[in-house]
Amino acid sequence: MKMQYINSNFNYNKKLKIKKVRRYLMIAALTFTMSLSSASAEENSKEINFDSSSFNNVIEFKRQMLDLNEKEELPINIEDEIEVPKEENLVTSEIEETEVIEEDNRIPVALTFDDGPGKYTDRLLDILKDNDVKATFFVLGTGVENYGDVVKKAYDNGNEIAIHGYSHTSFKKMTIEEIQTEIDTVVNLLNDLEITPSNLVRPPYGSINSNIKENLNYSFILWSVDTLDWKTKDKDAIIKEINNSIENGSIILMHDIHETTVDAVEEMLPELTDEYRFVTVNELFSLNEQELEEHESYHKVKVLEKVEE
Ligand code: NI
Repeated sequence: MKMQYINSNFNYNKKLKIKKVRRYLMIAALTFTMSLSSASAEENSKEINFDSSSFNNVIEFKRQMLDLNEKEELPINIEDEIEVPKEENLVTSEIEETEVIEEDNRIPVALTFDDGPGKYTDRLLDILKDNDVKATFFVLGTGVENYGDVVKKAYDNGNEIAIHGYSHTSFKKMTIEEIQTEIDTVVNLLNDLEITPSNLVRPPYGSINSNIKENLNYSFILWSVDTLDWKTKDKDAIIKEINNSIENGSIILMHDIHETTVDAVEEMLPELTDEYRFVTVNELFSLNEQELEEHESYHKVKVLEKVEE
């Protein structure tokens, strides 16, 4: 089969059409070859009983190709260019594409956002997406009620959704049953939005004790970098805090309910993403081959030592 019609000027649609044509050709060629071999076998026994249906398929195929050609949908003159491929060429006529996955050698860290979703979260999601960054959102039930579409977007973009609480009451001021009821309420709100939250909880104010940990079946995620964004509400101060403290395995605490926090993220990500790979909390732990256990609390991940080979 002559291949001169494949050149870089063809658009994608045309390439798809060519692929289709090639597939038809293969089927037609196969039936053609089968007919010939069965015909010659019959000939040897002097009893030619030709099955014309296979040839009819070829004729029908060619008729369709001519129709296409008349509509100028094919970049070739079908009469001149199409030849039935030889059998040995059939196998090689489809080219396989292989995907190359490059190793990401940047330092993994986790951005986490508490107390949302809020009115700035949607903008934050676009910034994260533009920088190819995934984060973890520890949401409040009240925020989920008010910004359901935003938390759904966060989830659909591949961010991790985890629980902060319903009302932001300190866990230490509630009974175990009350804490469980709050968490269940938020999980149900998320499930109604077809969101499956992860099994991570960040207690409001980071306030937790061994009794709470022992009696609730979650992993409790605290933080190793406190940006103090809620306090300073100052973009430059937030960025400075992160630049001073960020390291391999950091869990960075921020709050997506503040506009200055979103401003800081917008400014810092293009620079930091050269060196750091921002992943969800679950991914941060799995990249370091560390299991997140229930009834445990974590400030950061135990960084996996890389063995030089
Ligand atoms: Ni909070």
